Parts: sequence; structure tokens; C-alpha cells
Amino acid sequence: MKPIGGYFELEFREGEHYHKNAIRLSTARQCLEYILLARGYKKINVPYYTCSALLEPIKKLGIEYNFYPINETLEPIFDKTLDNDEALLYTNYFGLKQGTILSLSKQYKNLIVDNAQAFFAPPVKHTDTFYSARKFFGVPDGAYLYTDCPLNQKFPPYIPDSHARHLVGRLSQTPEMYYNDYQESEYAFSNMEIHSMSVLSEHVLKALDYQQIIQRRRDNYMLLSRQLNNRNKIKFDISSTDDVPMVYPFWSDQKNLRQHLISQKIFIPKYWQDVLEWTSTGQGIETELAERLYPIPIDQRYKEKEMNYIIDHILE
Ligand SMILES: Cc1ncc(COP(=O)(O)O)c(C=O)c1O
Repeated sequence: MKPIGGYFELEFREGEHYHKNAIRLSTARQCLEYILLARGYKKINVPYYTCSALLEPIKKLGIEYNFYPINETLEPIFDKTLDNDEALLYTNYFGLKQGTILSLSKQYKNLIVDNAQAFFAPPVKHTDTFYSARKFFGVPDGAYLYTDCPLNQKFPPYIPDSHARHLVGRLSQTPEMYYNDYQESEYAFSNMEIHSMSVLSEHVLKALDYQQIIQRRRDNYMLLSRQLNNRNKIKFDISSTDDVPMVYPFWSDQKNLRQHLISQKIFIPKYWQDVLEWTSTGQGIETELAERLYPIPIDQRYKEKEMNYIIDHILE
């Protein structure tokens, strides 16, 4: 019996997880570690254009890895036949590549889908697929994993402790004030053992109104598309799909755009700078994307007003 009475803990609406039947862990890289352990893969093919955190479990388990390139529509340039103990990892870039995932899943049985940027993309049957909640919502941790190969093992829950300060702080203060706390909370995940999802994230993720979030993200994305597509070197039309993007990817040669937007308090992250080290020639599409692709926020915190503000400052 839980203790009864006394002071209250934080309270949340009691709903359901969006990924109700998935295994719940702490981070995407832990999901990858889980898959590698469960499947016993000896080799893995990873895109150059991805997050360096994914190499943590690969290196930890001493698995051989090869990088492969992508083309200008973010499709894999990969035609190898996989050995039985070899996997292919593909990233659902910005939540806009579900079609590619469906065709890869028909071609490769050892496909691993990284949906860290595609929280709302449905998992493909019999395909190992993982998601990371931090990229979409205000939670300290949280990852979901679908696999037909579960481990018979329990993991201790992650306890965010001091690593939830930025989430509470940004509610009432400026993002700059809590940026260091945010960074520390991210560093804490480096080489962390596999944990199950924190109790705090469980509560938050069961309380969200996912249908509203989906609608808001799609509306914001379409608004930016209408105004910016003619200046964008990469375009994805979501109107005839169910895709729910993480951001609006804006590929532009405009000089000093990031600095200009920061000066207007529009914060645009720089993804995956390790890519510049990994690609030795420095001439691939990946270098271009790492330097000139601006992931513009379209998330549920924002509406037309904020989208128009961003558009005005890009067109300025
Ligand atoms: C595409 C992609 N996959 C995986 C990860 C790792 O996610 P996590 O920090 O939850 O391990 C990231 C991190 O930013 C990412 O961008």
C-alpha cells in the first residue's frame, strides 16, 4: 500500500502514453543498446548524417560500424546485402521520411529505425524502432522501443533529480538563464547504463493532448512551407501524408542567418557537428546539411503569430 494522506506531489491528468505497447526506457541511445544486445548484431551501418550519441552503445559493445552517405532528399545511398548479424540503421529525418522507412523495411529484415525525430511515426511491424521524447516535449528523459526480441531483464528507473531544473526554470525565466542546466542534463546521459523511463516523464507523457499537438505541429509546418518553400533547397510536402514533423528543415545559403535569428531571440540549433569530422572529404551533402540546414521550430508551444515572426525575420 502506498502512503496515504499528507502533502501533495505534483499532479497530472491521468491519460495514456502515445506509444502504449512499447518498452519504455530513458534515451534513444539506450534503445539502440538494447537492440544490439537483444539481436547480438556484430556489425551496423550508420548514416554519416546523424547524432554522435548513437555511437556510444556501438563503441561500448565493441560492434563494427560503417558510415554510409545520403542524397539531397535524405535517402540512403546504400545497396549492400546485409549479413545475418549485420544491421542497417536509418534515421527518419525530421519526421519526414516514413515512406523511405516503409520501403527499406521491405528490403532489409535487419533494419533499425531511428524515430528520435519522428515521435508520431507509426512503427513498422517486425521492425526494431525507437523514439526519444525529449526532442518533442518538456520531459527530463523518455524513450520508447518496439521490438520482437525483448530482453528478459528489468532496468532501474532514471531519477532526474537535479536534471529537471531547466524544465521548471524556463516556465518563468528566460531560456538563457537555464541553458547551462539544460546542457548538464544532456551530458548526464553520456554513457549512462540502460534505465527505464523516469516516473516524472511517465506522468507528463501520459498527460499530454497528443491530437492537439499533432494538429499544431502540422499547421505550423504548412504555414512555414507556404512562405519559405521557394527559398528552401529541400522541400517535403506533408499535406497528403500523416507525417508530423519535428521541425521545418530550411536549407539556405543565406549568410549569418543563425546569428540574425538569435539576435531576435529565435534559437535554431546546429545539428550533428561531428558529421564534419566523420566525412573526410568535407564535400558530401552531409557537410552542407550540417552547416546550412536550419531546423526551424514548429512545435506545440507556437501558433501563427510566432511562425509569422520567424518568417518575417528570415525574409528580412
Ligand atoms: C536522430 C537522433 N537519433 C538519436 C539521438 C540520441 O537520442 P538520445 O539523446 O535520446 O539518446 C539523437 C539525439 O539528438 C538524434 O538526433
